[in-house]
Amino acid sequence: MNCLSPSILAADFSRLGEQIRELDEAGAQYLHIDVMDGMFVPSISIGLPVIQSIRPYSERIFDVHLMIEEPARYLSDFARAGADLITVHAESCVHLDRTIGSIRDMGILAGVALNPATPLSVLDYVLPYVDMVLIMTVNPGFGGQKLIPYTLQKVRELKRKVDERGLKTDIEVDGGIRLENVEEVMDAGANIIVSGSAVFRGDITENTRCFLKILNS
Ligand code: DX5
Ligand code: ZN
Repeated sequence: MNCLSPSILAADFSRLGEQIRELDEAGAQYLHIDVMDGMFVPSISIGLPVIQSIRPYSERIFDVHLMIEEPARYLSDFARAGADLITVHAESCVHLDRTIGSIRDMGILAGVALNPATPLSVLDYVLPYVDMVLIMTVNPGFGGQKLIPYTLQKVRELKRKVDERGLKTDIEVDGGIRLENVEEVMDAGANIIVSGSAVFRGDITENTRCFLKILNS
């Protein structure tokens, strides 16, 4: 099944609860929450208290994307705050296998994200233990960027590897996805679609419905 994961990085934070309810009502299945520490990526975004306070506003899958150094230090805090799925970057984990195990031991889903320049081979040994792979289609750190075309080739190769090994790993894409190119990224093999600015700019309900129509077609 194809799912939409709107990124709240593009939300109006003064009306966050309200906008999350709007996404829910329009049918978005996930909620993408970008946590940035000003170290792994240049920006600082939001963290634990925000996740905790929006949890009662939505029953959707809280898809927490950790763009932070040494995420292993905070996994249980994010799970307690309400994460259903925690994605860590392969580039920020010295002990990636242990980190994936720690997430799964908490009874939640584990994702691994790869920056555009990171090869898929870092996943060769751990792929069977990962619920989702996040292929970054921009360099992480900011919303509103343009998709880097070669990342779609990576999505295609990952999809082939997943199928060849008989796995059911979800493939998420994040960065520069809009109504005009979402079909192309789905054709490449992605089934969880993150979108920030293209969902929140303008009419949230209408944008969400337009995305879902393409995702379900
Ligand atoms: C980028 C973040 C994305 C971002 C996507 O570092 O991980 O989730 O919010 O925003 P758009 O869809 O505007 O590129
Ligand atoms: Zn993200």
